[in-house]
Amino acid sequence: MNNEYRDVIIIGSGAAGLMFAVHIARNHSVDIITKDAAFESNTRYAQGGIAAVLDIRDSYEKHFQDTMKAGAGLCDPLAVQVLVQEAPARIYDLITAGVDFDKSGDHSLEFTREGGHSDRRVLHVGDMTGQAIESALLKTIQDPHFDIRVLDHCTVTQLIVWNGTCFGVEVLDSTGKLRNIFAKTIFLATGGAGQLYSDTTNPEIATGDGYVMAFEAGAKLENIEFIQFHPTVFYKPPAPRFLISESVRGEGGILRNAQGERFMPDYHEMAELAPRDIVSRAIVAEMQKTDANNVMLDIRHLGCKFILKRFPTIVSTIQTFNIDPVTQAIPVAPAAHYFCGGVKTDIDGRTTIRGLYAGGEVACTGVHGANRLASNSLLESVVFAYRAAVNADRFIRCYQDDEMKRVRKNIRHVTSKYSDNKGKIISEKDIATLRTQLQANMWKNCGIIRSFKSLDEGLNIISNLEKQFRDLGGNATLTIKAVELKNLLVLSKLVLNEARARKQNAGTHYNVDCDTPTLFRNYADRKEGHS
Ligand code: FAD
Ligand code: SIN
Repeated sequence: MNNEYRDVIIIGSGAAGLMFAVHIARNHSVDIITKDAAFESNTRYAQGGIAAVLDIRDSYEKHFQDTMKAGAGLCDPLAVQVLVQEAPARIYDLITAGVDFDKSGDHSLEFTREGGHSDRRVLHVGDMTGQAIESALLKTIQDPHFDIRVLDHCTVTQLIVWNGTCFGVEVLDSTGKLRNIFAKTIFLATGGAGQLYSDTTNPEIATGDGYVMAFEAGAKLENIEFIQFHPTVFYKPPAPRFLISESVRGEGGILRNAQGERFMPDYHEMAELAPRDIVSRAIVAEMQKTDANNVMLDIRHLGCKFILKRFPTIVSTIQTFNIDPVTQAIPVAPAAHYFCGGVKTDIDGRTTIRGLYAGGEVACTGVHGANRLASNSLLESVVFAYRAAVNADRFIRCYQDDEMKRVRKNIRHVTSKYSDNKGKIISEKDIATLRTQLQANMWKNCGIIRSFKSLDEGLNIISNLEKQFRDLGGNATLTIKAVELKNLLVLSKLVLNEARARKQNAGTHYNVDCDTPTLFRNYADRKEGHS
Protein backbone atom coordinates (compact mmCIF):
# COMPACT_ATOMS: atom_id res chain seq x y z
CA MET A 1 0.00 0.00 0.00
CA ASN A 2 1.32 3.47 -0.96
CA ASN A 3 1.85 6.07 1.73
CA GLU A 4 1.47 9.79 0.92
CA TYR A 5 2.05 12.87 3.11
CA ARG A 6 0.24 16.26 3.15
CA ASP A 7 -0.21 18.98 5.76
CA VAL A 8 -3.98 18.74 5.79
CA ILE A 9 -6.63 16.23 4.76
CA ILE A 10 -10.23 17.36 4.38
CA ILE A 11 -12.83 14.60 4.11
CA GLY A 12 -15.85 15.94 2.20
CA SER A 13 -16.46 18.69 -0.32
CA GLY A 14 -19.66 20.35 0.96
CA ALA A 15 -19.93 23.81 2.51
CA ALA A 16 -17.91 22.88 5.61
CA GLY A 17 -15.05 21.10 3.83
CA LEU A 18 -14.70 23.79 1.18
CA MET A 19 -14.87 26.69 3.65
CA PHE A 20 -12.13 25.03 5.71
CA ALA A 21 -10.07 24.54 2.52
CA VAL A 22 -10.36 28.19 1.50
CA HIS A 23 -8.97 29.34 4.85
CA ILE A 24 -6.29 26.69 5.48
CA ALA A 25 -4.84 26.40 1.98
CA ARG A 26 -3.22 29.82 2.14
CA ASN A 27 -0.44 28.28 4.21
CA HIS A 28 -0.56 24.52 3.87
CA SER A 29 -0.77 21.67 1.36
CA VAL A 30 -4.25 20.16 1.28
CA ASP A 31 -6.01 17.04 0.00
CA ILE A 32 -9.79 17.19 -0.30
CA ILE A 33 -11.06 13.62 -0.41
CA THR A 34 -14.64 13.17 -1.52
CA LYS A 35 -16.54 10.03 -2.36
CA ASP A 36 -18.49 11.16 -5.41
CA ALA A 37 -18.06 14.08 -7.83
CA ALA A 38 -16.79 17.10 -5.88
CA PHE A 39 -20.12 18.84 -6.39
CA GLU A 40 -22.23 16.07 -4.83
CA SER A 41 -23.23 16.82 -1.23
CA ASN A 42 -26.19 17.81 0.91
CA THR A 43 -25.02 21.39 0.45
CA ARG A 44 -25.80 21.22 -3.26
CA TYR A 45 -29.52 20.60 -2.57
CA ALA A 46 -30.06 23.31 0.06
CA GLN A 47 -32.99 25.43 -0.97
CA GLY A 48 -34.26 27.87 1.67
CA GLY A 49 -31.09 29.77 2.51
CA ILE A 50 -28.65 30.78 5.20
CA ALA A 51 -29.63 32.68 8.33
CA ALA A 52 -27.77 35.81 9.51
CA VAL A 53 -28.56 39.04 11.30
CA LEU A 54 -27.82 41.73 8.73
CA ASP A 55 -30.90 43.89 8.94
CA ILE A 56 -30.86 46.87 11.28
CA ARG A 57 -34.33 45.93 12.61
CA ASP A 58 -33.14 42.45 13.60
CA SER A 59 -30.73 41.58 16.46
CA TYR A 60 -28.23 38.91 17.54
CA GLU A 61 -30.30 38.48 20.68
CA LYS A 62 -33.39 37.53 18.68
CA HIS A 63 -31.46 35.04 16.50
CA PHE A 64 -29.90 33.63 19.68
CA GLN A 65 -33.29 33.21 21.39
CA ASP A 66 -34.92 31.66 18.30
CA THR A 67 -32.09 29.11 18.03
CA MET A 68 -32.26 28.22 21.74
CA LYS A 69 -36.04 27.87 21.62
CA ALA A 70 -36.04 25.67 18.49
CA GLY A 71 -33.34 23.50 20.12
CA ALA A 72 -35.72 22.85 23.05
CA GLY A 73 -33.33 24.45 25.50
CA LEU A 74 -30.59 21.86 24.87
CA CYS A 75 -28.28 24.10 22.80
CA ASP A 76 -24.90 25.21 24.11
CA PRO A 77 -25.36 28.97 24.69
CA LEU A 78 -21.69 29.76 23.99
CA ALA A 79 -21.75 27.97 20.63
CA VAL A 80 -25.01 29.71 19.70
CA GLN A 81 -23.52 33.07 20.60
CA VAL A 82 -20.54 32.37 18.34
CA LEU A 83 -22.88 31.24 15.55
CA VAL A 84 -25.03 34.35 15.49
CA GLN A 85 -22.25 36.88 16.09
CA GLU A 86 -19.85 35.51 13.47
CA ALA A 87 -22.55 35.02 10.83
CA PRO A 88 -22.15 38.42 9.13
CA ALA A 89 -18.39 37.96 8.64
CA ARG A 90 -18.86 34.55 7.02
CA ILE A 91 -21.68 35.86 4.79
CA TYR A 92 -19.19 38.50 3.68
CA ASP A 93 -16.71 35.67 2.86
CA LEU A 94 -19.38 33.94 0.77
CA ILE A 95 -20.20 37.14 -1.10
CA THR A 96 -16.47 37.65 -1.74
CA ALA A 97 -16.31 34.07 -3.04
CA GLY A 98 -19.01 35.03 -5.56
CA VAL A 99 -22.33 34.06 -3.98
CA ASP A 100 -24.87 36.47 -5.41
CA PHE A 101 -27.63 36.53 -2.78
CA ASP A 102 -31.01 37.82 -3.98
CA LYS A 103 -31.58 41.57 -3.64
CA SER A 104 -34.76 43.58 -3.41
CA GLY A 105 -35.71 46.49 -5.71
CA ASP A 106 -33.41 48.95 -3.88
CA HIS A 107 -30.41 46.55 -4.26
CA SER A 108 -30.32 45.73 -0.56
CA LEU A 109 -30.16 42.06 0.49
CA GLU A 110 -33.53 40.34 0.49
CA PHE A 111 -34.50 38.18 3.47
CA THR A 112 -37.06 35.45 3.69
CA ARG A 113 -38.56 33.84 6.77
CA GLU A 114 -38.62 30.23 7.90
CA GLY A 115 -39.99 28.20 10.80
CA GLY A 116 -38.98 29.26 14.30
CA HIS A 117 -37.51 32.62 13.18
CA SER A 118 -39.07 35.70 14.78
CA ASP A 119 -37.81 37.87 11.92
CA ARG A 120 -37.03 37.74 8.21
CA ARG A 121 -33.30 36.89 8.27
CA VAL A 122 -32.74 34.14 5.73
CA LEU A 123 -30.56 35.07 2.75
CA HIS A 124 -31.16 33.05 -0.39
CA VAL A 125 -30.32 32.59 -4.03
CA GLY A 126 -33.75 31.78 -5.47
CA ASP A 127 -34.62 28.30 -4.25
CA MET A 128 -31.11 26.95 -4.99
CA THR A 129 -29.01 28.59 -2.30
CA GLY A 130 -26.85 25.53 -1.67
CA GLN A 131 -25.88 25.15 -5.30
CA ALA A 132 -24.81 28.80 -5.44
CA ILE A 133 -22.63 28.37 -2.33
CA GLU A 134 -21.14 25.07 -3.51
CA SER A 135 -20.22 26.45 -6.96
CA ALA A 136 -18.67 29.63 -5.57
CA LEU A 137 -16.51 27.74 -3.07
CA LEU A 138 -15.46 25.11 -5.64
CA LYS A 139 -14.35 27.95 -7.90
CA THR A 140 -12.44 29.65 -5.08
CA ILE A 141 -10.38 26.55 -4.25
CA GLN A 142 -9.06 26.55 -7.81
CA ASP A 143 -6.91 29.60 -6.96
CA PRO A 144 -3.45 28.79 -8.43
CA HIS A 145 -1.81 30.01 -5.20
CA PHE A 146 -3.33 27.07 -3.34
CA ASP A 147 -1.68 23.66 -3.17
CA ILE A 148 -4.95 21.70 -3.18
CA ARG A 149 -5.52 18.24 -4.66
CA VAL A 150 -9.15 17.16 -5.03
CA LEU A 151 -9.39 13.37 -4.88
CA ASP A 152 -12.93 12.75 -6.07
CA HIS A 153 -14.64 9.35 -6.19
CA CYS A 154 -12.40 8.32 -3.28
CA THR A 155 -14.00 7.00 -0.09
CA VAL A 156 -12.36 7.26 3.30
CA THR A 157 -12.80 3.91 5.00
CA GLN A 158 -11.16 4.72 8.33
CA LEU A 159 -9.13 7.23 10.30
CA ILE A 160 -5.57 6.37 11.24
CA VAL A 161 -5.18 7.06 14.93
CA TRP A 162 -2.04 6.21 16.80
CA ASN A 163 -1.35 6.94 20.49
CA GLY A 164 -4.46 9.16 20.72
CA THR A 165 -3.57 11.34 17.73
CA CYS A 166 -5.09 11.24 14.26
CA PHE A 167 -2.38 11.07 11.62
CA GLY A 168 -4.26 10.29 8.44
CA VAL A 169 -6.84 8.29 6.59
CA GLU A 170 -7.26 5.06 4.72
CA VAL A 171 -8.85 5.64 1.33
CA LEU A 172 -10.59 3.36 -1.13
CA ASP A 173 -9.66 5.13 -4.35
CA SER A 174 -11.46 5.32 -7.68
CA THR A 175 -9.55 2.27 -8.97
CA GLY A 176 -10.73 0.15 -6.02
CA LYS A 177 -7.31 0.19 -4.29
CA LEU A 178 -6.58 1.12 -0.68
CA ARG A 179 -4.19 4.02 0.00
CA ASN A 180 -2.92 5.58 3.21
CA ILE A 181 -2.60 9.36 3.24
CA PHE A 182 -0.92 10.97 6.26
CA ALA A 183 -1.28 14.56 7.45
CA LYS A 184 -0.73 16.77 10.46
CA THR A 185 -4.41 17.69 10.62
CA ILE A 186 -7.56 15.95 9.45
CA PHE A 187 -10.86 17.85 9.02
CA LEU A 188 -13.92 15.62 9.02
CA ALA A 189 -16.73 17.19 6.93
CA THR A 190 -18.66 14.17 5.70
CA GLY A 191 -22.17 15.58 6.18
CA GLY A 192 -25.29 13.78 7.42
CA ALA A 193 -27.03 10.42 7.39
CA GLY A 194 -30.49 10.82 5.82
CA GLN A 195 -29.92 7.46 4.13
CA LEU A 196 -30.67 5.79 7.46
CA TYR A 197 -34.32 6.26 6.48
CA SER A 198 -36.47 5.07 3.60
CA ASP A 199 -37.96 8.55 3.17
CA THR A 200 -35.41 11.34 3.10
CA THR A 201 -34.49 14.63 1.47
CA ASN A 202 -30.81 13.60 1.43
CA PRO A 203 -28.91 12.27 -1.59
CA GLU A 204 -27.49 8.72 -1.80
CA ILE A 205 -24.10 9.75 -0.43
CA ALA A 206 -25.49 10.76 2.99
CA THR A 207 -24.70 7.46 4.71
CA GLY A 208 -23.20 8.76 7.94
CA ASP A 209 -19.65 7.49 7.22
CA GLY A 210 -18.03 10.26 9.28
CA TYR A 211 -19.93 9.49 12.49
CA VAL A 212 -18.87 5.87 12.28
CA MET A 213 -15.22 6.41 11.38
CA ALA A 214 -14.91 8.92 14.25
CA PHE A 215 -16.69 6.60 16.68
CA GLU A 216 -14.53 3.64 15.67
CA ALA A 217 -11.44 5.77 16.16
CA GLY A 218 -12.58 6.57 19.72
CA ALA A 219 -14.08 10.06 19.29
CA LYS A 220 -17.08 11.09 21.37
CA LEU A 221 -20.48 11.41 19.68
CA GLU A 222 -23.29 13.49 21.16
CA ASN A 223 -27.05 14.05 20.69
CA ILE A 224 -27.36 11.48 17.91
CA GLU A 225 -30.92 10.53 18.85
CA PHE A 226 -32.07 13.94 17.60
CA ILE A 227 -32.95 13.43 13.95
CA GLN A 228 -34.88 16.17 12.25
CA PHE A 229 -37.76 15.33 9.92
CA HIS A 230 -38.62 18.06 7.45
CA PRO A 231 -42.39 18.59 7.47
CA THR A 232 -42.99 19.39 3.82
CA VAL A 233 -41.47 16.93 1.39
CA PHE A 234 -43.26 16.24 -1.90
CA TYR A 235 -45.34 13.07 -1.62
CA LYS A 236 -46.71 11.51 -4.80
CA PRO A 237 -45.51 7.92 -5.07
CA PRO A 238 -43.76 6.67 -7.12
CA ALA A 239 -42.22 10.14 -7.65
CA PRO A 240 -39.03 10.59 -5.58
CA ARG A 241 -39.31 12.60 -2.38
CA PHE A 242 -38.30 16.20 -3.05
CA LEU A 243 -38.01 19.03 -0.54
CA ILE A 244 -40.58 21.81 -0.67
CA SER A 245 -38.65 24.51 1.14
CA GLU A 246 -39.82 25.92 4.43
CA SER A 247 -39.45 29.33 2.83
CA VAL A 248 -42.60 28.42 0.86
CA ARG A 249 -44.42 28.60 4.21
CA GLY A 250 -42.25 31.60 5.11
CA GLU A 251 -43.77 33.42 2.13
CA GLY A 252 -47.32 32.50 3.20
CA GLY A 253 -47.93 28.84 2.26
CA ILE A 254 -50.72 27.18 4.26
CA LEU A 255 -50.99 23.58 5.40
CA ARG A 256 -54.36 21.85 5.04
CA ASN A 257 -55.41 18.33 6.00
CA ALA A 258 -57.09 15.87 3.66
CA GLN A 259 -60.43 17.56 4.40
CA GLY A 260 -59.06 20.91 3.24
CA GLU A 261 -58.93 22.36 6.79
CA ARG A 262 -56.07 24.55 7.99
CA PHE A 263 -54.73 22.96 11.18
CA MET A 264 -51.42 24.48 12.30
CA PRO A 265 -52.95 27.35 14.37
CA ASP A 266 -54.38 24.63 16.66
CA TYR A 267 -50.91 23.25 17.36
CA HIS A 268 -48.71 26.30 17.86
CA GLU A 269 -48.93 30.06 18.13
CA MET A 270 -46.52 30.40 15.17
CA ALA A 271 -48.85 28.18 13.06
CA GLU A 272 -47.11 27.04 9.82
CA LEU A 273 -43.90 28.68 11.01
CA ALA A 274 -43.59 26.75 14.26
CA PRO A 275 -40.29 24.86 14.76
CA ARG A 276 -39.99 21.86 12.45
CA ASP A 277 -40.43 19.10 15.02
CA ILE A 278 -43.79 20.55 16.04
CA VAL A 279 -45.02 20.93 12.44
CA SER A 280 -43.90 17.37 11.57
CA ARG A 281 -45.72 15.87 14.57
CA ALA A 282 -48.82 17.95 13.82
CA ILE A 283 -48.83 16.63 10.25
CA VAL A 284 -48.55 13.04 11.51
CA ALA A 285 -51.49 13.66 13.86
CA GLU A 286 -53.60 15.13 11.05
CA MET A 287 -52.73 12.27 8.69
CA GLN A 288 -53.81 9.79 11.37
CA LYS A 289 -56.99 11.75 12.08
CA THR A 290 -58.02 11.83 8.44
CA ASP A 291 -56.59 8.41 7.53
CA ALA A 292 -54.41 9.97 4.79
CA ASN A 293 -50.78 9.50 3.69
CA ASN A 294 -50.14 13.20 3.23
CA VAL A 295 -51.39 16.73 3.86
CA MET A 296 -51.51 19.59 1.35
CA LEU A 297 -49.37 22.72 1.09
CA ASP A 298 -51.40 25.45 -0.50
CA ILE A 299 -49.71 28.45 -2.15
CA ARG A 300 -52.25 29.25 -4.83
CA HIS A 301 -53.13 32.54 -3.10
CA LEU A 302 -49.53 33.81 -3.56
CA GLY A 303 -50.18 34.34 -7.27
CA CYS A 304 -48.60 32.95 -10.40
CA LYS A 305 -46.02 35.70 -10.93
CA PHE A 306 -44.60 35.52 -7.42
CA ILE A 307 -44.58 31.71 -7.29
CA LEU A 308 -42.69 31.35 -10.56
CA LYS A 309 -40.16 34.05 -9.72
CA ARG A 310 -39.46 32.97 -6.16
CA PHE A 311 -39.55 29.16 -6.45
CA PRO A 312 -38.58 28.24 -10.04
CA THR A 313 -36.83 24.95 -9.20
CA ILE A 314 -39.59 23.68 -6.95
CA VAL A 315 -42.25 24.56 -9.54
CA SER A 316 -40.42 22.97 -12.47
CA THR A 317 -39.58 19.82 -10.50
CA ILE A 318 -43.08 19.08 -9.29
CA GLN A 319 -44.61 20.03 -12.64
CA THR A 320 -42.78 17.03 -14.09
CA PHE A 321 -44.97 14.94 -11.76
CA ASN A 322 -48.13 16.71 -12.95
CA ILE A 323 -48.65 19.03 -9.99
CA ASP A 324 -48.89 22.71 -10.83
CA PRO A 325 -48.62 24.68 -7.56
CA VAL A 326 -50.14 27.75 -9.21
CA THR A 327 -53.47 25.96 -9.57
CA GLN A 328 -53.16 22.93 -7.25
CA ALA A 329 -52.21 22.35 -3.61
CA ILE A 330 -48.96 20.34 -3.24
CA PRO A 331 -49.15 16.90 -1.55
CA VAL A 332 -46.51 16.74 1.22
CA ALA A 333 -45.49 14.56 4.15
CA PRO A 334 -42.45 14.61 6.48
CA ALA A 335 -39.14 12.90 5.61
CA ALA A 336 -35.78 12.50 7.38
CA HIS A 337 -33.73 15.63 6.77
CA TYR A 338 -30.97 16.48 9.23
CA PHE A 339 -28.76 14.89 11.89
CA CYS A 340 -28.76 17.37 14.79
CA GLY A 341 -26.06 15.60 16.82
CA GLY A 342 -22.73 14.16 15.75
CA VAL A 343 -19.03 14.16 16.51
CA LYS A 344 -18.59 16.33 19.58
CA THR A 345 -16.43 19.41 19.02
CA ASP A 346 -15.54 22.52 20.93
CA ILE A 347 -16.18 25.94 19.41
CA ASP A 348 -12.91 25.66 17.46
CA GLY A 349 -13.88 22.41 15.75
CA ARG A 350 -11.60 20.20 17.90
CA THR A 351 -12.91 16.68 18.49
CA THR A 352 -11.87 14.55 21.44
CA ILE A 353 -9.04 13.10 19.30
CA ARG A 354 -5.90 15.22 18.90
CA GLY A 355 -5.33 16.36 15.31
CA LEU A 356 -8.90 15.51 14.28
CA TYR A 357 -11.24 18.44 13.65
CA ALA A 358 -14.87 18.20 12.52
CA GLY A 359 -17.35 20.66 11.03
CA GLY A 360 -20.69 20.93 9.27
CA GLU A 361 -23.48 18.41 9.68
CA VAL A 362 -21.20 15.62 10.94
CA ALA A 363 -20.16 17.74 13.93
CA CYS A 364 -22.05 18.45 17.12
CA THR A 365 -20.91 21.95 18.05
CA GLY A 366 -23.89 22.28 20.39
CA VAL A 367 -25.75 24.91 18.35
CA HIS A 368 -28.76 22.78 17.43
CA GLY A 369 -29.63 21.07 20.71
CA ALA A 370 -32.64 18.81 20.20
CA ASN A 371 -33.86 20.45 16.99
CA ARG A 372 -32.14 22.70 14.44
CA LEU A 373 -33.54 26.10 13.57
CA ALA A 374 -34.14 26.45 9.82
CA SER A 375 -31.20 27.69 7.74
CA ASN A 376 -28.79 27.47 10.67
CA SER A 377 -27.01 24.48 9.11
CA LEU A 378 -25.26 26.16 6.21
CA LEU A 379 -24.43 28.90 8.66
CA GLU A 380 -23.00 26.48 11.23
CA SER A 381 -20.96 24.82 8.45
CA VAL A 382 -19.23 28.03 7.39
CA VAL A 383 -18.86 29.66 10.83
CA PHE A 384 -17.29 26.67 12.56
CA ALA A 385 -15.26 25.49 9.56
CA TYR A 386 -13.63 28.91 9.53
CA ARG A 387 -12.87 28.74 13.26
CA ALA A 388 -11.51 25.21 12.87
CA ALA A 389 -9.21 26.39 10.06
CA VAL A 390 -7.83 29.20 12.21
CA ASN A 391 -7.20 26.80 15.08
CA ALA A 392 -5.76 24.04 12.86
CA ASP A 393 -3.37 26.53 11.29
CA ARG A 394 -1.94 27.21 14.76
CA PHE A 395 -1.84 23.49 15.54
CA ILE A 396 0.17 22.77 12.39
CA ARG A 397 2.60 25.62 13.06
CA CYS A 398 3.37 24.18 16.50
CA TYR A 399 3.69 20.66 15.11
CA GLN A 400 6.90 18.91 16.08
CA ASP A 401 8.40 17.36 12.96
CA ASP A 402 9.73 14.57 15.19
CA GLU A 403 6.17 13.47 15.66
CA MET A 404 5.61 12.79 11.97
CA LYS A 405 9.04 11.14 11.76
CA ARG A 406 8.01 8.78 14.56
CA VAL A 407 4.79 7.99 12.72
CA ARG A 408 6.68 7.26 9.49
CA LYS A 409 9.02 4.97 11.40
CA ASN A 410 6.18 3.09 13.04
CA ILE A 411 4.02 2.94 9.98
CA ARG A 412 3.99 -0.82 10.06
CA HIS A 413 1.65 -0.56 13.06
CA VAL A 414 -1.10 0.82 10.85
CA THR A 415 -2.84 -2.17 9.37
CA SER A 416 -6.07 -2.04 7.48
CA LYS A 417 -8.94 -4.14 8.70
CA TYR A 418 -9.81 -4.60 5.03
CA SER A 419 -6.46 -5.44 3.41
CA ASP A 420 -6.13 -8.97 4.75
CA ASN A 421 -9.69 -9.96 3.99
CA LYS A 422 -9.87 -12.73 1.48
CA GLY A 423 -13.24 -14.19 2.47
CA LYS A 424 -16.62 -14.42 0.82
CA ILE A 425 -17.84 -11.28 -1.00
CA ILE A 426 -21.38 -9.92 -0.58
CA SER A 427 -23.26 -9.21 -3.85
CA GLU A 428 -24.50 -5.73 -4.84
CA LYS A 429 -28.04 -7.16 -4.86
CA ASP A 430 -27.78 -8.39 -1.27
CA ILE A 431 -26.32 -5.05 -0.21
CA ALA A 432 -29.27 -3.21 -1.79
CA THR A 433 -31.79 -5.54 -0.12
CA LEU A 434 -30.24 -5.17 3.34
CA ARG A 435 -29.98 -1.38 2.94
CA THR A 436 -33.69 -1.14 2.05
CA GLN A 437 -34.61 -3.29 5.06
CA LEU A 438 -32.46 -1.16 7.37
CA GLN A 439 -34.08 2.05 6.08
CA ALA A 440 -37.61 0.67 6.46
CA ASN A 441 -36.77 -0.45 10.00
CA MET A 442 -35.46 2.98 11.03
CA TRP A 443 -38.48 4.70 9.45
CA LYS A 444 -40.93 2.44 11.28
CA ASN A 445 -39.18 2.07 14.63
CA CYS A 446 -37.03 5.16 15.14
CA GLY A 447 -38.98 7.82 13.26
CA ILE A 448 -40.99 10.90 14.21
CA ILE A 449 -42.96 9.05 16.91
CA ARG A 450 -41.07 6.40 18.92
CA SER A 451 -41.87 4.08 21.81
CA PHE A 452 -39.72 1.76 23.93
CA LYS A 453 -41.32 -1.18 22.15
CA SER A 454 -40.52 0.20 18.69
CA LEU A 455 -36.93 1.02 19.67
CA ASP A 456 -36.42 -2.51 21.02
CA GLU A 457 -37.89 -3.97 17.87
CA GLY A 458 -35.61 -1.69 15.83
CA LEU A 459 -32.55 -2.97 17.71
CA ASN A 460 -33.55 -6.62 17.20
CA ILE A 461 -33.97 -6.10 13.47
CA ILE A 462 -30.60 -4.35 13.19
CA SER A 463 -28.84 -7.21 15.02
CA ASN A 464 -30.42 -9.61 12.57
CA LEU A 465 -29.36 -7.51 9.55
CA GLU A 466 -25.82 -7.28 10.97
CA LYS A 467 -25.66 -11.04 11.19
CA GLN A 468 -26.87 -11.46 7.61
CA PHE A 469 -24.31 -8.90 6.45
CA ARG A 470 -21.48 -10.76 8.21
CA ASP A 471 -22.64 -14.19 7.01
CA LEU A 472 -22.87 -12.97 3.41
CA GLY A 473 -19.27 -11.72 3.60
CA GLY A 474 -20.05 -8.00 4.10
CA ASN A 475 -17.12 -7.36 6.43
CA ALA A 476 -14.72 -8.82 3.88
CA THR A 477 -16.05 -6.81 0.93
CA LEU A 478 -14.14 -3.76 -0.17
CA THR A 479 -16.62 -1.76 -2.25
CA ILE A 480 -18.13 1.65 -1.53
CA LYS A 481 -21.63 0.20 -1.16
CA ALA A 482 -20.43 -2.46 1.32
CA VAL A 483 -18.53 0.13 3.38
CA GLU A 484 -21.62 2.39 3.39
CA LEU A 485 -23.87 -0.45 4.52
CA LYS A 486 -21.47 -1.37 7.30
CA ASN A 487 -21.56 2.27 8.42
CA LEU A 488 -25.36 2.46 8.25
CA LEU A 489 -25.61 -0.68 10.39
CA VAL A 490 -23.23 0.67 13.03
CA LEU A 491 -24.91 4.07 13.08
CA SER A 492 -28.47 2.68 13.28
CA LYS A 493 -27.52 0.74 16.37
CA LEU A 494 -25.89 3.78 17.97
CA VAL A 495 -28.93 5.98 17.25
CA LEU A 496 -31.41 3.37 18.49
CA ASN A 497 -29.43 2.85 21.69
CA GLU A 498 -29.22 6.58 22.40
CA ALA A 499 -32.93 7.00 21.68
CA ARG A 500 -33.62 4.07 24.03
CA ALA A 501 -31.53 5.70 26.76
CA ARG A 502 -33.30 9.09 26.63
CA LYS A 503 -35.99 9.23 29.30
CA GLN A 504 -37.49 12.66 28.57
CA ASN A 505 -38.77 14.01 25.27
CA ALA A 506 -37.22 17.08 23.72
CA GLY A 507 -37.34 18.59 20.23
CA THR A 508 -37.07 15.95 17.51
CA HIS A 509 -37.01 13.01 19.95
CA TYR A 510 -40.56 12.03 20.82
CA ASN A 511 -41.21 8.76 22.65
CA VAL A 512 -44.88 8.15 23.52
CA ASP A 513 -43.79 6.35 26.72
CA CYS A 514 -41.84 9.38 28.02
CA ASP A 515 -42.78 12.63 29.62
CA THR A 516 -42.54 15.90 27.68
CA PRO A 517 -41.56 18.94 29.76
CA THR A 518 -44.46 21.45 29.74
CA LEU A 519 -42.51 23.99 27.73
CA PHE A 520 -42.30 21.61 24.78
CA ARG A 521 -45.87 20.31 24.78
CA ASN A 522 -48.08 21.04 21.84
CA TYR A 523 -49.67 24.46 22.00
CA ALA A 524 -53.16 22.90 21.91
CA ASP A 525 -52.40 20.80 25.02
CA ARG A 526 -50.95 23.78 26.85
CA LYS A 527 -53.86 26.04 25.85
CA GLU A 528 -56.36 23.56 27.20
CA GLY A 529 -54.32 23.01 30.34
CA HIS A 530 -53.70 19.28 29.92
CA SER A 531 -51.18 18.10 32.44
P1 FAD B 1 -22.29 17.94 2.84
O1 FAD B 1 -22.63 19.14 2.06
O2 FAD B 1 -23.30 16.86 2.88
O3 FAD B 1 -20.94 17.34 2.27
C1 FAD B 1 -20.45 16.10 2.73
C2 FAD B 1 -19.33 15.65 1.82
O4 FAD B 1 -18.64 14.53 2.37
C3 FAD B 1 -19.79 15.21 0.44
O5 FAD B 1 -18.91 15.76 -0.49
C4 FAD B 1 -19.66 13.69 0.49
O6 FAD B 1 -19.45 13.10 -0.76
C5 FAD B 1 -18.44 13.55 1.38
N1 FAD B 1 -18.29 12.25 2.04
C6 FAD B 1 -19.16 11.61 2.85
N2 FAD B 1 -18.64 10.45 3.29
C7 FAD B 1 -17.41 10.35 2.75
C8 FAD B 1 -16.37 9.38 2.81
N3 FAD B 1 -16.49 8.25 3.50
N4 FAD B 1 -15.22 9.60 2.12
C9 FAD B 1 -15.08 10.71 1.37
N5 FAD B 1 -16.03 11.67 1.28
C10 FAD B 1 -17.17 11.49 1.96
N6 FAD B 1 -29.46 23.89 5.49
C11 FAD B 1 -29.59 25.22 5.57
O7 FAD B 1 -28.98 25.86 6.42
N7 FAD B 1 -30.41 25.89 4.70
C12 FAD B 1 -31.12 25.25 3.74
O8 FAD B 1 -31.81 25.89 2.96
C13 FAD B 1 -31.02 23.84 3.65
N8 FAD B 1 -31.73 23.15 2.74
C14 FAD B 1 -31.52 21.80 2.61
C15 FAD B 1 -32.18 21.10 1.60
C16 FAD B 1 -31.93 19.75 1.41
C17 FAD B 1 -32.66 19.01 0.30
C18 FAD B 1 -30.99 19.08 2.23
C19 FAD B 1 -30.70 17.63 2.03
C20 FAD B 1 -30.36 19.76 3.25
C21 FAD B 1 -30.61 21.12 3.45
N9 FAD B 1 -29.98 21.83 4.46
C22 FAD B 1 -30.13 23.19 4.55
C23 FAD B 1 -28.96 21.19 5.31
C24 FAD B 1 -27.58 21.55 4.75
O9 FAD B 1 -27.63 21.55 3.36
C25 FAD B 1 -26.52 20.58 5.19
O10 FAD B 1 -26.62 20.30 6.55
C26 FAD B 1 -25.14 21.18 4.94
O11 FAD B 1 -25.07 21.55 3.59
C27 FAD B 1 -24.07 20.19 5.31
O12 FAD B 1 -22.85 20.59 4.77
P2 FAD B 1 -21.56 19.69 5.03
O13 FAD B 1 -20.44 20.35 4.35
O14 FAD B 1 -21.46 19.39 6.46
O15 FAD B 1 -21.92 18.29 4.33
C1 SIN C 1 -35.67 24.39 3.53
O1 SIN C 1 -35.47 25.09 2.55
O2 SIN C 1 -36.79 24.19 4.01
C2 SIN C 1 -34.52 23.74 4.20
C3 SIN C 1 -33.97 24.67 5.17
C4 SIN C 1 -33.12 23.98 6.17
O3 SIN C 1 -32.98 22.76 6.17
O4 SIN C 1 -32.60 24.70 7.02
